[in-house]
Amino acid sequence: MAEQSRHKVAFGIDIGGSGIKGAPVDLTTGEFTADRRRIPTPHKSTPDAVAGVIAELVDGFELPADAPIGVAFPAPLDRGVVRFIANLHKSWKGIDLPELLHEATGRDVVAVNDADAAGVGEQRYGAAAGRDGVVLMVTLGTGIGSALLVDGTLVPNTELGHLEIHGHDAESKAADSARQREELSWEKWGRRLQRYFDTVEMLLSPELIVVGGGVSKHHDKFLPLLDLRAEIIPATLRNRAGIVGAASLAARPH
Ligand code: BGC
Repeated sequence: MAEQSRHKVAFGIDIGGSGIKGAPVDLTTGEFTADRRRIPTPHKSTPDAVAGVIAELVDGFELPADAPIGVAFPAPLDRGVVRFIANLHKSWKGIDLPELLHEATGRDVVAVNDADAAGVGEQRYGAAAGRDGVVLMVTLGTGIGSALLVDGTLVPNTELGHLEIHGHDAESKAADSARQREELSWEKWGRRLQRYFDTVEMLLSPELIVVGGGVSKHHDKFLPLLDLRAEIIPATLRNRAGIVGAASLAARPH
């Protein structure tokens, strides 16, 4: 879908628990204009260590000086400030991410929640393109991320991965990391997802749920097990969605 931005290309970065990935994105098509680069997340994933990796990623591509740069980050961000952090080093709490990354790269950087970035990516270029009403993107990875879109407008920082279900933080039981850690069968994990999505449906009544994260490439193994009122479909940008959405939001915030 065409974007109204004076830029043709923006750079997107996705900070994850195991890897930090970046690529330049064509803002008209949502495609990468060069191969994605991935650097493992530093074992001690402190702000300074991660900022160093981001500077290395940005320097590794020949970007115009004014190229918009968007960063997808795995925590809720209050005007760029990390509110709490579940899956990176605890010292991130309270950090002003755009300020930190400006110091590290010398460039202006727009920071957004990773699931929000993925949701906007899917809405502008992927599975949710052209869909109005209440659309929910859920990413299943190390944690569970959520992005709520109402008639195409993002309601940021929804944090539905931390719903408390039967006394547990939902992502500790239903994220893809729980499936892997506990070696759950698709059926067993499917029953946990059913409980999770039942709660989400009860609270928000979305019309469409888009499921992303690396495991969404195996959607045929678990989406057919779910019985929901909402239409539930796999993300089409898969694990590119965070990079694409962050780049797109950096060029066009709304
Ligand atoms: C974080 C969210 C994030 C999600 C996916 C959760 O633990 O609180 O902000 O979107 O993981 O990375």
